[in-house]
Amino acid sequence: MVEKIIVLDFGGQYKQLIARRVRENHVYCEILPYSTPLEKLLAENPKGIILTGGPNSVFGDEALSYDPRLFETGIPVLGICYGAQLMAYELGGKVLHADVSEYGHTEVKVAKSGRILRDWKRTSTVWMSHTDRISEVPEGFEVLASTENCPVAAMENAGRNLYAVQFHPEVVHTEEGSKLFHAFVYDICRCAGTWKMDSFVDTTVKELREKIGDGRVLCALSGGVDSSVCAVLLSKAVGKQLTCVFVDHGLLRKDEGDEVEKVFGPEGPYELNFVRVNAQEYFYEKLKGVTDPEQKRKIIGAEFINVFEKEARKIGKVDFLAQGTIYPDVVESGIGKGAVIKSHHNVGGLPDHVDFKEIVEPLRTLFKDEVRQVGLELGIPRNLVYRQPFPGPGLGIRIVGEVTAEKVRIVQEADAIYREELEKANIDMGRGQFFAALSNMRSVGVMGDGRTYEYAVVLRGVITSDFMTAEAAQIPWETLQICMNRIINEVKGVNRVLYDLTSKPPGTIELE
Ligand code: XMP
Repeated sequence: MVEKIIVLDFGGQYKQLIARRVRENHVYCEILPYSTPLEKLLAENPKGIILTGGPNSVFGDEALSYDPRLFETGIPVLGICYGAQLMAYELGGKVLHADVSEYGHTEVKVAKSGRILRDWKRTSTVWMSHTDRISEVPEGFEVLASTENCPVAAMENAGRNLYAVQFHPEVVHTEEGSKLFHAFVYDICRCAGTWKMDSFVDTTVKELREKIGDGRVLCALSGGVDSSVCAVLLSKAVGKQLTCVFVDHGLLRKDEGDEVEKVFGPEGPYELNFVRVNAQEYFYEKLKGVTDPEQKRKIIGAEFINVFEKEARKIGKVDFLAQGTIYPDVVESGIGKGAVIKSHHNVGGLPDHVDFKEIVEPLRTLFKDEVRQVGLELGIPRNLVYRQPFPGPGLGIRIVGEVTAEKVRIVQEADAIYREELEKANIDMGRGQFFAALSNMRSVGVMGDGRTYEYAVVLRGVITSDFMTAEAAQIPWETLQICMNRIINEVKGVNRVLYDLTSKPPGTIELE
C-alpha cells in the first residue's frame, strides 16, 4: 500500500503547493475537499492529514467545519492558517477577529521548537496571510512561536499528535518551511518516503496492463508534454494495442508536426500505431474570414473534434480512450468560480464523441514537473519534455484577426528565431512562457531604398508560477535587438518588432 498524506481543502489558494511540498519528501499526497466524510478519509489510511488555509472565518455563517472526531483518531494532523484556527476553535481554544490583517513577509520568534519546528532558527521570516488569529490555545497545547501581531504563530499538542501554524510553510518565502514538512512527514507521520518517479513508472505500467488486458486504446496526441508522456506510458504497457492520433491543424510551432512524427512515428523508438492527420488546409479554410477570438477558438475546438472523430471511426470501436489529464486539471476546490475570460479547449477532451468503454488517465495524480520527471525517466527527448506550454488552439490565438497560411508562416518563423535567441542568451524559459505572436497591424517602414508596408510581430515573455498571474520578463536589451534584426531580415512580411510589456492582469498571456 502506498504511503499517503491527505490535504483537506478548505478553499486555500496554496493547497497544491502543500501537496507538492509533501511529495518532494517522497510521500504521495492527495487533496480532498473539506466535505469528505471522516469515515471516507480514514478509509484512505492516511499517515497524516493537513488542513489547508481558506478565506472564511471559523465562526459566522460561512464557517467550514469538520467532524471534530478527526482530532481523536491519533493520526497526526497539521493545521495551516484557517486549518490552525479550526483546530484551536474545535478543541476549545479562542479565535479572534483581529483589527489588522497580517500579510506578507513577517518575522517569527520561536520560543520552543517542539516537534513541528524542529531545527528552526530562533528568528526567521514566514509568510502570513490572515485576519483572524488564535488568541487562546486549547487545553494541552503549547505555544511554540509568535510574531508581533500574532501571539500564536505555532502551537502543538505532541501527545495528541496535533500541530498548527498560522503562517504558510508551503510558500517559498517561509525560510524554514521545508524543515517543517520534513519534520511532519518523517518524524511525526513516520513515513518511509518511497514515492519516487521510477516506482511510479513501474507501478503505472503494471496497473495499465492489468486494466487494459488485451483491449484497444486510443490516444489523442498533441505533441505537448502531458499527452506525450501519457502515450509513452501506454506504449510501454500495451504496445501495439495503442493507436495515437495526431491532428496537425496547421497551427503548430515551426517543424513541430515533423518533430512529433519523428518521435512517435514508425521511425521512432516506441511500439505503437501512429496516425498523423494533415488537416492544415482544412483548418485554414474553416478559419477563413473569421476575426473574433472566441469564434476562432470555438471553430478550432469543434473542427478538431470533427477531424479526430473521423479518424477514430476508421479505427473502429476501441475499449479505452487515453487522456493526459494531470492533477491540477483534476483538483477543484468548488469554492468560488471565476468569470470565463476565454473558453479553453484542451486537445484530448473528447469523451462524448468517440465510441469507447472507459477513459484511462495515467497522469491524473501528477503535477506538471512530476510529469516532466516521468518523461525523462521514460527516455522522451529533453526538448519535448521541456517544451513551452502551448494552447490547444495553437497559433490560431497568437495571430490577431484572420488566420491565413501566410500569417502562420510568419509567426512560426519569428517564434523559432525568438526562442533560438533566448536559448543562446541562456534565458530560463522554464519560469514562464515565451513566444512570438502576430499583431494585425501593418505599418510603414523603409528597407533598402524602398517603402515597406508590412506586419508587426509581437514578442511576448512572461514569468509566472501558476499562469493565473504573470509579469513581463526582463529580457536583456541586446537579446531583443538581435531578435528584432533577425526577424526583420529573415522573415518576409515583417517590418516591425514589438515587445509586449503587459502583465496579467490586466492582460492575458496569450493575445486572444
Ligand atoms: P491566458 O492567455 O488565459 O493563458 O492568460 C493562460 C495559460 O493558458 C494557456 N491557454 C490555453 N491552453 N487551451 C489550452 O490548453 C486553450 O484554449 C488555452 N488558452 C490559453 C496559455 O498558453 C497560458 O499558458
